[in-house]
Order: sequence, then structure tokens, then C-alpha cells
Amino acid sequence: MTIKLVEEKALMGQDRRRAERRLDFGHAWDYAPAPEGTDHVRLASRYDLFIDGRFEPPGAGRYFETINPATEARLAEVADADERDVDRAVAAARRAYDQVWARMAPLERGKYIYRIARVIQERARELAVVESLDGGKPIKESRDFDVPTAAAHFFYYAGWADKLRYAFPGHAVRPLGVAGQVIPWNFPLLMAAWKIAPALACGNTVVLKPAETTPLTALLLAEIIQEADLPPGVVNIITGAGKTGAALVGHPGVDKVAFTGSTAVGKHIQRALAGTGKRMTMELGGKAANIVFADAPIDQAVEGVISGIFFNQGHVCCAGSRLLLEEGVHDTFVRKLRDRMATLRVGDPLDKNTDVGAINSKMQLEKIRELVASGEEEGAERFSAPCELPERGYFFAPTIFTGVAQSHRIAREEIFGPVLSVLTFRTDAEAVEKANNTFYGLSAGVWSNKGARLFKMASQLEAGVVWGNTYNKFDPSSPFGGYKESGFGREGGRQGLAAYLVVE
Ligand code: NAI
Ligand code: MG
Repeated sequence: MTIKLVEEKALMGQDRRRAERRLDFGHAWDYAPAPEGTDHVRLASRYDLFIDGRFEPPGAGRYFETINPATEARLAEVADADERDVDRAVAAARRAYDQVWARMAPLERGKYIYRIARVIQERARELAVVESLDGGKPIKESRDFDVPTAAAHFFYYAGWADKLRYAFPGHAVRPLGVAGQVIPWNFPLLMAAWKIAPALACGNTVVLKPAETTPLTALLLAEIIQEADLPPGVVNIITGAGKTGAALVGHPGVDKVAFTGSTAVGKHIQRALAGTGKRMTMELGGKAANIVFADAPIDQAVEGVISGIFFNQGHVCCAGSRLLLEEGVHDTFVRKLRDRMATLRVGDPLDKNTDVGAINSKMQLEKIRELVASGEEEGAERFSAPCELPERGYFFAPTIFTGVAQSHRIAREEIFGPVLSVLTFRTDAEAVEKANNTFYGLSAGVWSNKGARLFKMASQLEAGVVWGNTYNKFDPSSPFGGYKESGFGREGGRQGLAAYLVVE
């Protein structure tokens, strides 16, 4: 990577002002821009629905645009599936289930899933660029996290396909049938992998609907599925907004619903499906606490807290959006946090140096702004990183609030943006009490030098995942899921198989 002394560099506009600000904060050098190439990416101007192994136009002929949130430029238009299209997709999945996939030898199913994983690896660069273009996340995250982790999920579950009876010793297992899967916009390709890989490994067929702001990598995945030669109808990918999602989860031909998204929509689906006998898994919102004790390795904890909330612009259901600091370490920690925030690079998602990219949509940006305004009105103290935001596109400067009370909205509601609320505690018991004082329960982090304390806290925190002296670490072999209003069911690992099987 090129590092140039500021004095040597002829800086213009934003770069120059950014560099001057860095000097104010005591940093003598800056990175030169390093944009990722896009020449290898060929987006079609229009994408149809992937049904029964083919791309087909929507019955009603309606399409909608997906844009690049960093520039507001139109990327492509995608089909808006209506109820009849959903019906066709579910029928294709049913045929493929009855006639091919559920009957196929599990070892053979595994080979197809391995093939998907391999083609994802082959097309990794293209997938990473499209993920960053369509959703606004920094290329270093889509390249180093989203795409490799998506491939890893297919590899992992491919391995389970012919070993299912060892996953639940003493039990007979069989697939559920057709899975209707609805995913959000924060990790578009990775969420598709989390949903599709275990479903296929267990012998189910799938209709998947990506989010309306980020449909493109799911459509590339449809091409990959064609390339991997999967039998037609085993995976169907249909695009559309909430109405399409509702038609899919409500379709009588769907045996299992897997949903990741907002708690409000998750509750709505649960109400709509009550009494239908459909199996469900729900992965909903979060308001995770990152708990830092005074004996923690402080600089390491600062890095962990920073990545825990600013990773993917805070568009992470398990983001460490509440920071609980032991009182004695509060002032030092906040000072170090602010210093580190001043060095975060906010801007072009395709620049390899960018730490914080674009907010996914105008709607999400407005939601973040509204909650941040409520924090100021309710009396918390705001600090936003002193960075210049690009003129076009949806951006929000990394922000922390100190002096936050548990009753403040910014301490209770999911902001889903780069905004951290800082609270304090004096004892272990108070930390547990405050961390658990939420309707959510997806994840938490504990930072301490004492191993015994990490384990004790982990057993008392009502959260599906608890990280110790680290944050946001994922592995396909590790189950993920929530307590309370964060949802139910587990994805990942052996536990993730149970969501797609009848275990007798
Ligand atoms: P959302 O829950 O509306 O969207 C998620 C997915 O559900 C999308 O594919 C959408 O088309 C679909 N959907 C919407 N209404 C549906 C319905 N009635 N039936 C079936 N599917 C439906 O999330 P939205 O509005 O994009 O974001 C709002 C808030 O939700 C965010 O600010 C954030 O707080 C939270 N959120 C949480 C996520 C998580 O991973 N836990 C992911 C996305 C959003
Ligand atoms: Mg988009």
C-alpha cells in the first residue's frame, strides 16, 4: 500500500481537508486513494426471475431499480414478482423436491453444493465488487469477509449432506420440503448462503427472496447455481419488496419459513402464519452490549469496540451498539475511542482503504438521523468523527454518545447505523443487569483479563453469542441466533441442520 507524506502530496479538495484534520489529531501521513477496479464486472441492465433453472420475466412485466447508495446512480432494474410469480417458483421447488432432490443420494447432493462453493470462489472478485456497489459496504469487507464466508458456508454444509444421521445420533432424519426464505440487505450474499446451504444439504428445495435494495449478488448466485448445473427448481430466486416476501412466506406450498430482518416484520410473519403448522426460524434485531472491565487490554478493546459498531456501517444485527464501561476506565476509554474514530476513513466503498462506506438506503439514513436527533434531545452528549462526507450518496459520520441513560431511545432501539451509546457500571452484577435490560438478545461482548470472569459473564448474559476479548467473529461451524425478541432457531453449525429437518 502506498503511504505518502502529506507534505509531499499535492492534495486537492476533500483529500486536503481530510489530511489537515488528521494533522490536528496528530497523524502525519495519509493513504493515497486505492480504488478497486470494476472493469471485470458486467452487470445486465435488467434481471429477470430465476425460476425452474431459467431466468424468466415477471408475469405482470413490472421491474424496479436498484441503485448504488454511494453515488445514487442506477445499477440495474430487477423484476418485481407478484403472487403468480411466487406461485410458479413454489411449484417449481415442489416438483424438484418430489422428483429429484429429496430422492437423490445425499453424497450426490453434497457434490452440487461443493460446486456452488467453488464457483463462488472463482467469481469472488466480481461478487465482492457487486456487493459493494449495490449495498455500499467497503470493498475490504465484501472481499475479505462476505464473499469468503459465503463460500465457507457452502463448503461446510456440503460436508454434512451425507452425514446427517451422525448429526443426531439415534434419530431418523428427513427433509421438510420447500423452504421460503426472506433475507435483508446488510449481508446480501452471505445471508443467501446461510439460508440456502443448510436447506440443500438437508434435502430441501428453496425459494429465496433477497432485499429490494440489494438484489444483485443473489441474482449472480442464481447464475452460479446454473453454472454448477443444479437440477432445475432446486433453488429459485425471486425479487421484489415486502409484498413479494409476504406472498412467499404465506404461500400454502411452503413448508418452512426462514426469515432474517426487522423484529416488526418478523412478528408480523409469526402472526400471519400462526396455526398453519409451518416450521419457522426468525433472526431479528439486536441491541448488543460490549462490556469492558477496567482490567481489560484497553487498546485491544478499543479496536474491538470500534469494529463491533462501525463494521459494515453498523448495519449488523449483532453490532455492539451499547458500550458498557466500568466506571474507572470510562474517561481514558472514551478519549482513546474518539482518537481512533478520527482516523476512520469514511467514503467511497470501492476504495480499499475505506473503513466506513455508504448507508444502505435513504430510508435507513433517515432512521439513523432521527434516532441520533432523539439522543441529543434526550440529553446525551454527541461526538461525531470529524470527517468530510461525500456530497452525493448516503453517508453518516461514525458517532458516539456519552452520558446515555438506560431510558434513552438510543439505548433501547436498534439504530442499525454507525452510532454507539456509552453507559457505565460499577460491579459485575450491574453490568449483567444493564446488558440484559433489553427486549433483544442476539449477542454480547466481554473484555477482561480474567478468564473466569469471561465465562461467568457469558453464562449470565441473555444472548445467543457472547464474544470474549474479541467481537464479530463468525465461522460456519458455530451456531448463531437469538434470545427474546431477537428471534428463535439457530443458523450455522450442526444446530443449523435441525432447522431444516424432521428429527424423529
Ligand atoms: P425489513 O424487515 O422490512 O426487510 C427485511 C426483508 O423482509 C426484506 O427482504 C423485505 O423485502 C422483507 N419483507 C418486508 N416486509 C415483509 C413481509 N410483510 N413479509 C415478508 N417479508 C417482508 O427491514 P427494513 O425495513 O429494510 O429495515 C428496517 C429495520 O430493520 C432496520 O433499520 C434495522 O433496524 C432492522 N433490520 C434488521 C436486520 C437484521 O439482520 N436483524 C436486517 C435488516 C433490517
Ligand atoms: Mg442497491
